Amino acid sequence: MANVFVELLVTLLKLVYYWIEGIVLAFVPASFLAKDISHDTVLITGAGSGIGRLMAIKFAEKGCRVVVWDVNNKGNEETASEIRKRGGKVTAYSVDLTDRHQIYKTASEVKKDVGQIDILVNNAGVVTGKKFLHCPDHLIIRTMDVNIMAHFWTAKCFLPGMIERNHGHLVNIASSAGFVGVSGLADYCASKYSAVGFDESIRFELNSQGITGVHTTVICPFFINTGMFDGVKTRFPFLLPILDPEYAVNKIMDAILCNQTVLLLPKNLVFFIALKGMLPTKCCQILADFFQISNSMDEFKGRGEKKEN
Ligand SMILES: NC(=O)c1ccc[n+]([C@@H]2O[C@H](COP(=O)([O-])OP(=O)(O)OC[C@H]3O[C@@H](n4cnc5c(N)ncnc54)[C@H](O)[C@@H]3O)[C@@H](O)[C@H]2O)c1
Ligand SMILES: *[C@@H]1O[C@H](CO)[C@@H](O)[C@H](O)[C@H]1NC(C)=O
Repeated sequence: MANVFVELLVTLLKLVYYWIEGIVLAFVPASFLAKDISHDTVLITGAGSGIGRLMAIKFAEKGCRVVVWDVNNKGNEETASEIRKRGGKVTAYSVDLTDRHQIYKTASEVKKDVGQIDILVNNAGVVTGKKFLHCPDHLIIRTMDVNIMAHFWTAKCFLPGMIERNHGHLVNIASSAGFVGVSGLADYCASKYSAVGFDESIRFELNSQGITGVHTTVICPFFINTGMFDGVKTRFPFLLPILDPEYAVNKIMDAILCNQTVLLLPKNLVFFIALKGMLPTKCCQILADFFQISNSMDEFKGRGEKKEN
């Protein structure tokens, strides 16, 4: 009995300590906390376009050796030559992430060609953008394959090496759609909720095994202006802006460099998530209608059928 009491006291003290630490850290500029990754090798999936390409360029600028994966070989090679032009070290692989065997095969090529991966960024993503009953099966399967199943397979390839060396970082690019369901995004939201749950569970597994040198970060942005979500609307851009890719990627880099576990973009998403946790669901529906979250996808165009793989 006395033991539980002591444990409770210690737990409360730790809670207060880390709460204060969290508040303090939120005000310290990222540049003060940033870790040195200049000797790290980084693998980024979906680096052939959008924020994947921008992240690849930023990591190379930090001195990292960069490995870029994409099914879009042309885009991927463009990313690689952009990095080479700036004097960075990069190796590009053409991989279709919907194929688990291709992931395993390419991962062993990477280990042979460039060695161990220190930072794995699961970034590739696709969106169907149709109401659920209008989603053909193959597109639902593709969404799950790229947006979550591929995270499992890449982590299986590269986490063991990180754990062995007690050095590494798993970054999962999820979405604000990993916390809130959206009409017209059923398969996408399901895949992004999965990515959030995956990241959190892996973090707990690493913690419980005392692996202090391997970190995880899950990135949950609202819409970003990369083309993937062309046509979407936001009612109050001053509260929920459609993000500039460059801005989003700078925030993502800061979060990774500071071992931040969860990044919500913009920050004020935290209020929406907290409200969702506290209010009755009917109130949430009313708020979602008012903020036009419910019909944000009505005029979705995305990248169009042409670019579908
Ligand atoms: N754009 C947004 O509004 C937004 C918002 C929140 C989260 N995200 C997430 O950010 C990530 C990057 O999105 P983006 O906006 O840069 O999109 P993007 O379409 O510009 O880039 C996605 C990349 O993934 C690649 N890819 C798709 N299927 C693949 C496959 N089977 N195998 C290998 N590569 C594949 C594409 O070729 C493309 O280069 C995605 O996971 C997306 O879900 C985007
Ligand atoms: C991030 O993790 C690395 C490696 O474990 C560590 O050296 C660094 O001090 C950490 N930085 C912060 C801000 O937590």
